[in-house]
Amino acid sequence: MDYFPAFLKLKDRPCLLVGGGVVASRKADLLLAAGARLTVVAPEICPALALYVTSGRITHRIGRFTPSDVNGHWLVVNASDDPELGSEVFEAANGARIFCNSVDDKGLCSYVTPAIIDRSPVVVAVSSGGAAPLLARKIRTQIETILPARLGHLATLASAWRDRVKNRIDGLLNRRRFWEQVFDGVVYDDVLAGRFQSATRNIAFLLEAASRSQRKEGEVWLVGAGPGDPGLLTMRALQLMQRADVIVHDRLVADEILALGRRDAEKISVGKVPGCRSTTQEEINELLIRLVRDGKRVCRLKGGDPFIFGRGGEEIEALARADIRYQVVPGITAAAGCAAYAGIPLTHRDMAQSVVLLTAHGKDSVDRLDWPSLARDRQTLALYMAVRRFPDIQSKLVEYGRSPDTPIAIIERGTSDNQRVIHGSLENLTDLAEQHGVIAPALLIVGEVAGLGVGREWFEGQAAAQAPDRPVPVAVF
Ligand SMILES: C[S@@+](CC[C@H](N)C(=O)[O-])C[C@H]1O[C@@H](n2cnc3c(N)ncnc32)[C@H](O)[C@@H]1O
Repeated sequence: MDYFPAFLKLKDRPCLLVGGGVVASRKADLLLAAGARLTVVAPEICPALALYVTSGRITHRIGRFTPSDVNGHWLVVNASDDPELGSEVFEAANGARIFCNSVDDKGLCSYVTPAIIDRSPVVVAVSSGGAAPLLARKIRTQIETILPARLGHLATLASAWRDRVKNRIDGLLNRRRFWEQVFDGVVYDDVLAGRFQSATRNIAFLLEAASRSQRKEGEVWLVGAGPGDPGLLTMRALQLMQRADVIVHDRLVADEILALGRRDAEKISVGKVPGCRSTTQEEINELLIRLVRDGKRVCRLKGGDPFIFGRGGEEIEALARADIRYQVVPGITAAAGCAAYAGIPLTHRDMAQSVVLLTAHGKDSVDRLDWPSLARDRQTLALYMAVRRFPDIQSKLVEYGRSPDTPIAIIERGTSDNQRVIHGSLENLTDLAEQHGVIAPALLIVGEVAGLGVGREWFEGQAAAQAPDRPVPVAVF
């Protein structure tokens, strides 16, 4: 983050605007809306600014800017179109340690102004840090369309009731639940429909009910976070992540996904970190139970789908034994996500009648697998946690009759910006993995369909965008 986002309180604070044209008048509108005491320095000013001067809302110092003009101001805005003057203004402001913004000149800015969606007192600010102002404006337009016009009334109503709620409802968690009821339910609907009296009656009713039954009620939400791309989260996953008091997550869950959770939620990693002691399943179960008994709503966030090689089953068993409420939200499992992003149709009708999801993890797993059936033709195998077992998988499948030239694809960090797809055939699986230094998380796809991905890679990811010459998919036969 190159800029620290903040909202400045400018009410009654002297601010300086340099320039007297139309652009300056637009800046004046905003500064005055925030209550600033505004002085404009310019030899001449446009009619809109002149009106403000006549009505006494701004002071006009007639003349060219001089460095001493910045003295005594909290903020300087340079809206002149003269680059030389702009540099003078910026240097003077910087010298006096006053934040300065120059319209359309990022080099002469010590702060940037965001595009805003104004539902005062709710204000949403969007910034690209000066990198792409038009993109920020486009995002603003999109947000404008989804934020109801009366949102500000809702915030004002909440503010009027805040102290009463604090006096009647104990504890942060209980108050949070109360406000969620207000913002998600009938009060919200009332305000948006313009039924303000009804909204007031309903908030009073809710407060009465909430203050009578203040009991802690926690719950666990076992949520699948998908294979990596935040865009593959389900709507339900996102909703619950934003309501949870605590997010207990696996190491595989990407930071970009965690960032979508409630900002003030406690985040606890229970993942396995190579070289460090990892949390045992029993410890995770105990942690979930303890958190819920403390009244917390816990989002147990797992990579992919919680029930596919995710030990979600063990977690709900433990919760059920402890009589704790839970919900399960499925996620896109690695096989589905990785295959899609590698352009591999797992069950192309000409080549595969079934797809088998299997894991080769653990000491004896390779010996326990039903190799004669796995080696049959016209089926696709999607192998999880298999990187260290590639030599066994290769030799067993060939031993039980799968053709050595069966296509394979190894998808490393699938769906993420660092996705890598390596194509080859069963007979060179181990060599390829070694040659390319494949590391977990990686998924192995074995079957004719794997070959269909060659030349059909549509997803390149950020890594490819940053190094367009880098060959992302690798095909070796
Ligand atoms: C403990 S399992 C969890 C699987 C997860 N529950 C799911 O449904 O995808 C972890 C394994 O899933 C596979 N995996 C998960 N995410 C992946 C990704 N983004 N790219 C490739 N493989 C992935 C890898 O084989 C990894 O070792």
